[in-house]
Amino acid sequence: MNADEHRLRTSPEVRRAALADCPGILAIYNDAVLHTTATYDYEPRSLEHRQQWFTARERDRFPIFVAVEAQPSGPERIIGWSALNPYHDRMGYRFTSENSVYVAANSRNRGVGSLLLAPLIPAAEQRGLHAIIAVIDATNAVSIRLHAKFGFEQVGHFKRVGFKFGRWLDVVYMERLVQVPVTD
Ligand SMILES: CC(C)(COP(=O)(O)OP(=O)(O)OC[C@H]1O[C@@H](n2cnc3c(N)ncnc32)[C@H](O)[C@@H]1OP(=O)(O)O)[C@@H](O)C(=O)NCCC(=O)NCCS
Repeated sequence: MNADEHRLRTSPEVRRAALADCPGILAIYNDAVLHTTATYDYEPRSLEHRQQWFTARERDRFPIFVAVEAQPSGPERIIGWSALNPYHDRMGYRFTSENSVYVAANSRNRGVGSLLLAPLIPAAEQRGLHAIIAVIDATNAVSIRLHAKFGFEQVGHFKRVGFKFGRWLDVVYMERLVQVPVTD
């Protein structure tokens, strides 16, 4: 296989996630827990916790996407995932969601995050959501840039609201409005 063929065969695809994708989703998340301030969790989560999360998102019709890559031998590999989550459980927030996007460490900076963020916007529209909020560690310049590329605007900067790896962390809020009519 020459280099072009290899690139074609390994170019990632994005599809809706299935319950069976939870181990791959979990592995990427837990690596970010242990090595980054992208999430303020300290301890890796269990597969059961991730499966419950998946089932709740399905029940509430919040989308989850995975980026998968074909492997020369063996099954496809999950190299990233994205999701919309409820923002707040009080009734008046029901048109607002909070997004997640995570790419496996060895697949970053080759467009996978962009592939995963893009479908969240039409999916939010289809779901009748009005706003997507991204809650981003202020030092995460790549994520801030990624979200800005998709029309997210910075709407807040909270100082020293997080603490991880022995230091205080600021959080940036970015918002992407999705134009849908309110159907009360
Ligand atoms: C943030 C994250 C999802 C971005 O995914 P990615 O696949 O690396 O992003 P992309 O390759 O699509 O790049 C997005 C933009 O950032 C830029 N970028 C990516 N990596 C970069 C780097 N290391 N340095 C500078 N710019 C970078 C890209 O050039 C691109 O901008 P452009 O299209 O204007 O050129 C990924 O880095 C990640 O999973 N990080 C850990 C978890 C995390 O931070 N999640 C977000 C929580 S809010």
